Amino acid sequence: MCGIVGFTGRRQAAAILLDGLGKLEYRGYDSAGIAVRDGEKLAEVIKSEGKLNNLREKTDNGKAIEGTCGIGHTRWATHGVSDRRNAHPHVSGNCTGSGCGPVESNVVGVHNGIIENYREIREKLARHGYEFYSDTDTEAAIKLIDYYYRKYRLGPVDAIARSMVRIRGSYAIEVMFKDCPGEIYVMRKDSPMIVGIAGGETFVASDVPAILEHTRTVYYVGNMEMARLLPGEAHFYDLNGDEIGKEPTEITFTAEAAEKGGFEHFMLKEIHEQPGVIADTLHSAVNDGVIDIGVDNDTLAGIRQVLIVACGSAYHAGIAGQYVIEQLANVPVRVELASEYRYRSVPAADGTLAVIISQSGETADSLSALRKAKAAGILTLAVVNVVGSSIAREADCVFYTKAGPEIAVATTKAYSAQLVSMYLLALALAGSHGAVSPEECSELLEELETLPEKVEKLLSEKERVQWFASKLVNTRDVFYMGRGIDYAACLEGSLKMKEISYIHSEAYAAGELKHGTISLIENGRLVIGVLTQPELYEKTLSNLYEVKTRGAYLMAVTSYGNYSIEDNVDFVIYVPRISRYFYTSLVMIPLQLLAYYTAVGRGEDVDKPRNLAKSVTVE
Ligand code: G6P
Repeated sequence: MCGIVGFTGRRQAAAILLDGLGKLEYRGYDSAGIAVRDGEKLAEVIKSEGKLNNLREKTDNGKAIEGTCGIGHTRWATHGVSDRRNAHPHVSGNCTGSGCGPVESNVVGVHNGIIENYREIREKLARHGYEFYSDTDTEAAIKLIDYYYRKYRLGPVDAIARSMVRIRGSYAIEVMFKDCPGEIYVMRKDSPMIVGIAGGETFVASDVPAILEHTRTVYYVGNMEMARLLPGEAHFYDLNGDEIGKEPTEITFTAEAAEKGGFEHFMLKEIHEQPGVIADTLHSAVNDGVIDIGVDNDTLAGIRQVLIVACGSAYHAGIAGQYVIEQLANVPVRVELASEYRYRSVPAADGTLAVIISQSGETADSLSALRKAKAAGILTLAVVNVVGSSIAREADCVFYTKAGPEIAVATTKAYSAQLVSMYLLALALAGSHGAVSPEECSELLEELETLPEKVEKLLSEKERVQWFASKLVNTRDVFYMGRGIDYAACLEGSLKMKEISYIHSEAYAAGELKHGTISLIENGRLVIGVLTQPELYEKTLSNLYEVKTRGAYLMAVTSYGNYSIEDNVDFVIYVPRISRYFYTSLVMIPLQLLAYYTAVGRGEDVDKPRNLAKSVTVE
């Protein structure tokens, strides 16, 4: 996600901030900005779109801006496209033009994370005369701090504390107050923030690599805590505004390990980010039980058919979506590979909604499929992770998944976010068609709310998967099989395995195996069965017996309670129980981990598998 840095000390701040932001580039970003102040003078804001080098050039590597106190940010767009207007820092006052120059405002700040109730905060502040110049959730938070600071004449710490009580979501926010030269204030909930002190100077960052060059002794700002930073000093506060003591921590890992948050690979880090990503995607779309998937309710009520078009894992998310939408909303769904759809002649039926799913929003085939659907007069909805990407810009409606930047080529967290968006689309369609009652809809939303914690539990049991994967290092072929929505999970599980471990793998609808592929089953061949759907359980189990009889070595993924499966299967992973529609999100965790640990065991370059690209912008 975005990156945050801050500095207050004796040296010039701008160059230090730019260096720190450079260390956070790996997190992905699309614009950058800094605010620096020189003693009592007003803070100067400089922002630029694109790479950090643009900001470096604009500021002559920081030399053009004087001041020993400042904050900086690399933005990965979540609310509003990536342009200079939406780039951070944001200010509490009005802002015209480029947003660059001296800041008259009381408060200037930067933010990582997502403010879930930013619309509500904007409305409240608008009633008090505030005007908004950007599309960001951040601007609402900065102006809210200003509101409490001015209205109640609170000190900075109390104004921030009051804002924290009001804000819902996740954030690491760093602000400077006009009245407090040389000082930086930070606040945090569910988004990391660290402070380092060295040589009479103070550094702050969202991530360890930005600070490591200056000190290895850091203070972690705790959840719902604040800090006031002065040169060589840091004071920490709880939500009551009471100062709290804090012990420093010594960083022992290298800068490279720090970028991966202590994980061996980005893929493992991203697998572990899934509880947060699922929650963020969910919360960005659901407000007081109302789902906003980017298409209004009346339009949804008129939809007679859904056409999902995508590539790779996004296509697999679409297949899972097909099962859920058809079951919940009783609306027919057809899922097409974008590379096929773009050259097919498909009659356009009235009342069709075309859903283009894409992490990058730039996949050439998906973009072309979108254009084809639009040209045929079909209403298009983009389900995209990258704000302002081509597919997001060109579609009639957009829903943004909130996975943040994904660095490992093999997608994990973006796919999980796509699954959640499919569930939400299914529920929104079902609601608008009267296929589920409002009560059923809120029960299912409550079920969805349990996903992050269930995913967390599966992650905490990863050692079992790791142990099993260690036996697969010399495996040549793997078959995945499942029925119904479990088949969708098999497709993605199999893709993960082949793309990073280079082991040949195939996914089959369990009933189809005997129509040919069963001839490949021989002694010791690994077959992984996914069995989460009660009404299909016995059927898939029979298919597992069929391959076991022919010598297959069996692994199964099923839900807690199906313990008799152990009589016939060599290794079982149980996933927590959840509504039948949402199992794919749980099953995928052990399947991702299995692929990951197998690839690691084989010594493969997990984050950059051979021949693959993260974003395929050519046909
Ligand atoms: C590439 C990536 C896959 C991804 C697919 C579609 O092949 O390696 O992980 O699923 O493109 O990408 P998109 O950005 O459209 O989701």
